[in-house]
This record gives sequence, structure tokens and C-alpha cells, in this order.
Amino acid sequence: MALGNVTVVGLQWGDEGKGKVVDALAAKCDYVVRYCGGANAGHSVSIGGQKFAMHLIPCGVFNRGVVNVIGNGVVFDPAVAIQEIDGLLQRGVKVGPDSLRISSAAHVVMPYHRRQDALNEAMLGGGKIGTTARGIGPCYADKAARWPAIRVGELTDAEALREKITRIVAIKNKLLAALYGEGPMDAAAIADEYVAYGRRLAPMICNTAALLRRAVAAGEKILFEGGQGTMLDVDHGTYPFVTSSSVSACGVAPGAGVPPSAVGHVVGVIKAYTSRVGAGPFPTEQDNDTGEYLRKRGNEYGTTTGRPRRCGWFDAFAVRYAADLSGVSTLALSLLDVLSGLEEVRVCTGYRLDGGKLAEYDPTVLARAECIYQTLPGWKDDISACRRMEDLPAAARAYVARLEELVARPVGFISVSPERTASILRGDLVEGLA
Ligand code: GDP
Ligand code: IMO
Ligand code: MG
Repeated sequence: MALGNVTVVGLQWGDEGKGKVVDALAAKCDYVVRYCGGANAGHSVSIGGQKFAMHLIPCGVFNRGVVNVIGNGVVFDPAVAIQEIDGLLQRGVKVGPDSLRISSAAHVVMPYHRRQDALNEAMLGGGKIGTTARGIGPCYADKAARWPAIRVGELTDAEALREKITRIVAIKNKLLAALYGEGPMDAAAIADEYVAYGRRLAPMICNTAALLRRAVAAGEKILFEGGQGTMLDVDHGTYPFVTSSSVSACGVAPGAGVPPSAVGHVVGVIKAYTSRVGAGPFPTEQDNDTGEYLRKRGNEYGTTTGRPRRCGWFDAFAVRYAADLSGVSTLALSLLDVLSGLEEVRVCTGYRLDGGKLAEYDPTVLARAECIYQTLPGWKDDISACRRMEDLPAAARAYVARLEELVARPVGFISVSPERTASILRGDLVEGLA
């Protein structure tokens, strides 16, 4: 089967292993496109023992000839992007105008957005969201408000930018003082900083939506790289404990400027258990020895903030909901090796609520839901060297088969260690892209 475009989305609360899957599939693609979120993302790619943590630059950069695109739906922090580009260049990964394009219509994350993010959280105290403090929410709020917002294209007109930043910072300073009792920010220093970013990035800034529509018309292959995970989606996640963008495959069209039909084959990435970083409901959470076991073996500490991630069993009810929302065709299962050594593994198959079984998934009732679990036998062996289904212990194969049944989709890719080559490929997911 020949596959067209591919969209890779997370089906849990983020950190499902999307970076590794995108890197693997990018080898067969012409473009890799970020369409949501910003530097709150932390996507890992491990190549020959070298680990790369990507925040804004798409994970297609490790494949030569791929054009990487930061789409209009992303909130773009130029300081993070430049630091990331320089870090990649120092490690011998080529990133330049040939391999990276930034949308002129993407919104710019400013220093006052990061400050507002931190101050909002402090004000919320015990009720805080647990954001990544990257200024994501305040930047998307300004985008929706239309003023005071700055788009990437404006970074290259130094004079107009200075004037606009001066006007905006004057207003933000009033807000900081009135709402939080905070001192003012220095408009001239911020303007100098952002004018310099504009100069540096200008060769990469363009109308990426037009570029991608030309690619669609020419039949070139595009991979859309999702950020976060569906349960963190602003509309369909565990609101208000979510991020501020549409992270599912439903966000691709507005976030990249392509027709919905360009989404193509949707790959849903899942980890073999569940993790969540930040606050909010998490029905299968194991705040006990099991959770600690998963955190240790899975090295579950945030790629962006270093915070310990909350860990728990696989929630098939939530994943089925997320897969249905994005129209997922194939599942990519990661971190299966982390479950090795457990006597038994549990999977949540549904929720009990108010004395009955919940018929339809509803992210608004999670705090009151009680999990219905199925228990399966565990396996002892280290599976990180397995490269074929037959190499896996029978109990691991049975676990994969049960997840496929519960989520009603086939698993086409199984990752058994962070390393690029450590995967089991099934069906025609990768070959179909050729
Ligand atoms: P992403 O945000 O979805 O790209 O995921 P992250 O990179 O934030 O988190 C996934 C973590 O698991 C990273 O540290 C990866 O290097 C690591 N990882 C990915 N696949 C595997 C796997 O199959 N086994 C193990 N043990 N680690 C993996
Ligand atoms: P990747 O792409 C995991 C979480 C934060 C917080 C909530 C809101 O690596 O999977 P924000 O800074 O976006 O306002 O924070 O969303 N969050 C993520 N959790 N992985 C991510 O990205 C995340 N991006 C945001 O922890 O709970
Ligand atoms: Mg991550």
C-alpha cells in the first residue's frame, strides 16, 4: 500500500515518543512540519548514543534533504530556536535556509509572555496548571486577542518592530504592576534583542502555508509532527489542565495552512504505560512503587523542564477516544521495554462513574472516574535487542495484541529502546512511505 502524507500525533498526555517515530518516518518524506504548540514540546531523538532534545525545530533535521517547517500555528520563541539551531550546528547537524523554514504568520513568544506565564501560575497557587513556563498560554491569548500580538514576519522590519514593542511593553508594564505588583520591563532592551533575532532568522522566514500547498499540489510527501498529546488539547483534553492549542490531527489544517485532506495517514503514538507532567486528572496514575518503577526505568523526567513525570498504567479507554478523534490508522508503541520485570501489567479498559459504567469517553468527568482494570501476565526478559515480533516474550506479544484490540487499530511500529535503530516494524507503515 502506498501511503500519502503522514501525521504523527500523541494519544496520551505528551512525551509518548513522537520524536523517535518522526525521525524514523522522515527518511521517506520531503517535508516535516510542526503545526501546534511551541517550545513547551521536548522531542527526543537518539542516534548512535547521542541524544538530541528538540523543542521547536522539527525532528526531520536528522535526515538529509528534508525541508523542516515551523508552521503558522506554532508560537515561536526566537531565542529558543536560535539556541537550538546553534546547538545542532555545533554537533554537526546542518540547519540553514535550505532545511528550515519559519512561517511569517507564526506568533512570536516575547519575554513578557514568559513572565506572565510564571506570574499567572504563582497567582493560582495550589490550583496551578503546572505549565512549562515557556509563555505558551499568554502568547496564544494575545494571538486570539489580535492586539497586542507580534508575528514572525514583523521581526524583519526593525523600525516598525521597535515602535510596536515600545507601545506593547508600556501596556504590559501597566498590567504587570496592577495585577501582580511587578516592576517594569525594559522596552528598548527587548526591541534590541528581537531586532537582532529578525536579522539572524530573515533568510528562513517565508509564507510556509503557500510552500506547503505547492508541495501538496506537486504530490510531495509531507509529515506533520504533532506536539503534546491529545489529552492536553485545548478543546478535547482535560480542560483547564491542558495546553493552549489544537494538538490532534484536527489541528493540522489550520496550523499548517493546508486542506484537511492533506493530513493523510494518521499515526498515533502511545507509550506502553502512561505519563503526565503538570497538574490535572490522571485516572490510571500509580502514586506508589509501581509508578516509581516506571519513572526509574523509563527515565521519566521532563525533556523541557526536568520535572519528574507522574506515571501509571496504560489507559486504553482514553487512547481509544484520542485515536477516534484524530482518525488514527496505525499505532506506534514506544517504551515497551520499560514494562520488563513486572510480575503483572494492568490495562484500564473503562471507567466506573456514579455506580455505572461510563458508555462514552468524557474528559470532563475524569476526576470522579474509577478505573476498570484488566490484569495481564508480565515478562522478565530485557527486550531492547528484539527486532522482530517473534523475538518478544509471549506475554509481551499478548500485551501488544490486547492493546490493539482495545484501541481497535493495528500496532505498526514498536520501540524497545531510545536508539534510532531499536524498533520492530510491522505491516507496511514504513515501506508504504517509500
Ligand atoms: P516526545 O515528546 O513524544 O517526543 O517524547 P519525549 O522525548 O519527551 O519522551 C520520550 C522519552 O523516552 C525520551 O527520553 C526518549 O529518548 C525515550 N524513548 C523513546 N522510545 C523509547 C523506548 O522504546 N524505550 C525507552 N526506554 N525509551 C524510549
Ligand atoms: P511534548 O511535545 C508533556 C503540559 C505541561 C502542562 C500543560 C500546559 O514533548 O509531548 P503549557 O506550557 O503548554 O502551557 O503547559 O501541558 N505540556 C506537556 N506535557 N509533553 C509536552 O510536549 C507538553 N507540552 C505541554 O506540563 O501540564
Ligand atoms: Mg516530550
